[in-house]
Amino acid sequence: MKAVRLHEYGPPSVLVYEDAPRPQPQAGQVAVQIYAAGVGVWDAEIRRGEWRDMIDYPMPLILGTDVAGKVAETGSGVTNLRVGQDVYGVVDMTLSGSNAEIGLGRAAALSPKPSTLSYEEAAAVPVVAVTAWQMLFDLAGVKARQTVLIHGAGGNVGRFAVQFAKRAGATVIGTASARDLDDVRALGADQILDYKGKPFEQIVRNVDVVIDLVGGDTRRRSWDVLKEGGILVAASEELSEEDTQVARRKNVRAAFVEVDVTANLLARLTELLDARQITTKVGAILPLAQARRAHEMIEAHQQPSGKLVLKVR
Ligand SMILES: NC(=O)c1ccc[n+]([C@@H]2O[C@H](COP(=O)([O-])OP(=O)(O)OC[C@H]3O[C@@H](n4cnc5c(N)ncnc54)[C@H](OP(=O)(O)O)[C@@H]3O)[C@@H](O)[C@H]2O)c1
Repeated sequence: MKAVRLHEYGPPSVLVYEDAPRPQPQAGQVAVQIYAAGVGVWDAEIRRGEWRDMIDYPMPLILGTDVAGKVAETGSGVTNLRVGQDVYGVVDMTLSGSNAEIGLGRAAALSPKPSTLSYEEAAAVPVVAVTAWQMLFDLAGVKARQTVLIHGAGGNVGRFAVQFAKRAGATVIGTASARDLDDVRALGADQILDYKGKPFEQIVRNVDVVIDLVGGDTRRRSWDVLKEGGILVAASEELSEEDTQVARRKNVRAAFVEVDVTANLLARLTELLDARQITTKVGAILPLAQARRAHEMIEAHQQPSGKLVLKVR
């Protein structure tokens, strides 16, 4: 099969479009004939070697987790999916990633694809939508009438976070870049602030929840806008010792999400997507052979608004 692999960590030029062995599913695993694969900013971090202390990836490595495609083969014990079925979800990079014609995933992390979405649209959903869901509901426990501040509301996780928080009955304030302001407002945000405009901490007060998809200085400036007992949930950078101390001093909580894509949650997202109660946005579609170009766009901060997707078939 064709795949985009890297044989060593490094810049986008380490990505090579080449032949690779077709992976075989073991018990509980599914081989997916991939039609479309999402590209995330974390794929570029992995390519640069920034995750190597946490995960011992096999080389050559096929990047990419998000997929949409058809079940090609199932390992023993797989009962929730059948060969030929349209699915979406995540494959496992330690087995075989999604930047390939076939990827291997756990059946427990794949679910029937939303029928109203194209393969490209479906591949734009799993990691970012599940991250937003887990931050809001599993970690922050967002409820109706709470106020939620979402940093990076115009990004891929942020767009889902805005929609989920609104559906939960929260008041949603988002920070985003100028190009995304109208988009985020259309998704339902009650108030949307240009992150290059007046500092948010001079405008926003007493929020119950901060969803931090940006980190750095934005996180440092966020502690003061939380009400006592509130919570900041982070995704982009792990919490530092300093974060933990500030949170304790201010009597607020802090948590970091580690996304866990499950078939159950994907099935719930499928219902919402097919009922058109939430939407996804594809920013650009590139052929698999041009995966390197997608990484160059991330490296140069020239990503489109919406998800970068590779068309595999
Ligand atoms: N821990 C986990 O399990 C997990 C899972 C998924 C994602 N993540 C992380 O979560 C972060 C967000 O992911 P994503 O896919 O949503 O990325 P993304 O699509 O690149 O979105 C990031 C957004 O933040 C905006 N932004 C940049 N600086 C900002 C600032 N100071 N204030 C407000 N917004 C700002 C960007 O706008 P411009 O580019 O227009 O400036 C962009 O729209 C990434 O760091 C990713 O690695 C973590």
